[in-house]
Amino acid sequence: MYPGYFISFEGIDGAGKSTHIESFQKLMQERYPQREVVMTREPGGTSLGERLRTLLLDAPMNLETEALLMFAARREHIAQVIEPALSAGKIVISDRFTDASFAYQGGGRGLSLKKLNELEHWVQGRPNGVLLQPNLTILFDLPGEIAEARRSKVRAPDKFEKMDLNFFEKVRQEYLRRAKEDPKRFYLVDATKTPDLIWSDLKKLEIII
Ligand code: TMP
Repeated sequence: MYPGYFISFEGIDGAGKSTHIESFQKLMQERYPQREVVMTREPGGTSLGERLRTLLLDAPMNLETEALLMFAARREHIAQVIEPALSAGKIVISDRFTDASFAYQGGGRGLSLKKLNELEHWVQGRPNGVLLQPNLTILFDLPGEIAEARRSKVRAPDKFEKMDLNFFEKVRQEYLRRAKEDPKRFYLVDATKTPDLIWSDLKKLEIII
């Protein structure tokens, strides 16, 4: 679809994706020195998106409002950052993308998947009818209780991090359902492993760009 390559990192809060994402960026840059690697995140990635992020992570709101704002931030992110970078042949690494909306607003909070599918088609649909999706999604998978124990006890938890174990189990199951639906796109990382073992798994990942 584009000359660039799009990678997303996903997983429940506390799965450990943040520990590896910067090293992964460096790895990609070493492997593809001729390509620029763009790091970005959701919600966020643009100045409007970052403002929406503050609201989304702090302010209580209606579930549909939450989903619409996630996708509004995503629309801006695609228009301002993702599409231009992919069109210019860059490698884009995003800390979360649409799978997070299915997992958190859908699985976790219970918004209908039909509505989420409609939003996904609206926001990621291209004129040729094809959906913009990551070429590769690295999913850090682990049971909710291990993630809970790992979540930072230092920083004050945001709105999502405050949710209970049952919520995170539902988030995890929706991530796994999405992965099963599109197995070619997903690379599952067993996030119960130590950071060293996870990193050696990530280094083994063959990416053909
Ligand atoms: P982060 O902590 O990985 O930066 O992600 C911010 C939080 O936002 C995280 O708890 C997951 C949540 N989130 C959603 O609920 N829906 C979404 O579509 C995205 C991108 C993130």
